[in-house]
Amino acid sequence: MFQKLIITIDGFSSCGKSTLAKQLAKRLNYTYIDSGAMYRAITLYFLRNNVDLAKEKEIRHALKNITLEFVVNETSGSSEIYLNEENVEYIIRDIVIAEKVSDVAALKDVRTFAVAEQQKMGIHKGIVMDGRDIGTTVFPNAEIKIFMVADEAVRVERRYAEMFDKNPNITLDEIKSNIAMRDYIDSNRKISPLRKADDAIELDNTHLTPKEQLDFALKLVKNIGAPA
Ligand code: DC
Repeated sequence: MFQKLIITIDGFSSCGKSTLAKQLAKRLNYTYIDSGAMYRAITLYFLRNNVDLAKEKEIRHALKNITLEFVVNETSGSSEIYLNEENVEYIIRDIVIAEKVSDVAALKDVRTFAVAEQQKMGIHKGIVMDGRDIGTTVFPNAEIKIFMVADEAVRVERRYAEMFDKNPNITLDEIKSNIAMRDYIDSNRKISPLRKADDAIELDNTHLTPKEQLDFALKLVKNIGAPA
């Protein structure tokens, strides 16, 4: 039997990574892991517990008290993140978390913790994981690596549509500056900055429908002889 793959999808904020990762995981019957949700859940814990980001000891202590788990919601069929057994899938999408998460994700101890958890989740393969450093740091030997890009205007529109349901008062400008700020911090941090892995395939989905982007990814799977 063909061994299951590890598929990584990296890219800037709001490029449609999670849409593609979910489609692909469903089609291949793989597990989808949203690595960004892990950084968001850690950020939520830090905010709730007033963890001082300048104090390494406090950060390490806090991380020892964090358990993260993905559980499939039987109704929607999608996996949701639990922080210490609490479902935080919805609350971590709040703009308050979005404003802080890149600073938290830049911390050395946070990355060591999250990367180790992510690597454990990939032990049996058969996963699609999206994020910023999945193809470069977490799974440098992944069989398929996709790096997604899209025009800024399209990304802002997409994130706005996503956020509007939860927060109708949010403005396009707020979204635009949050995306720009996160892109900057994520690409310029010292540890595992966002960058395209040398062997990643770039996918620009600015003008693609969800079906077209799925077909693109499935072709990559077929090209290496795996069932798709
Ligand atoms: O994908 P997202 O927008 O939910 O990710 C939230 C933040 O987490 C993002 O701004 C950067 C960080 N992140 C990261 O540093 N490394 C990853 N593998 C995934 C996300």
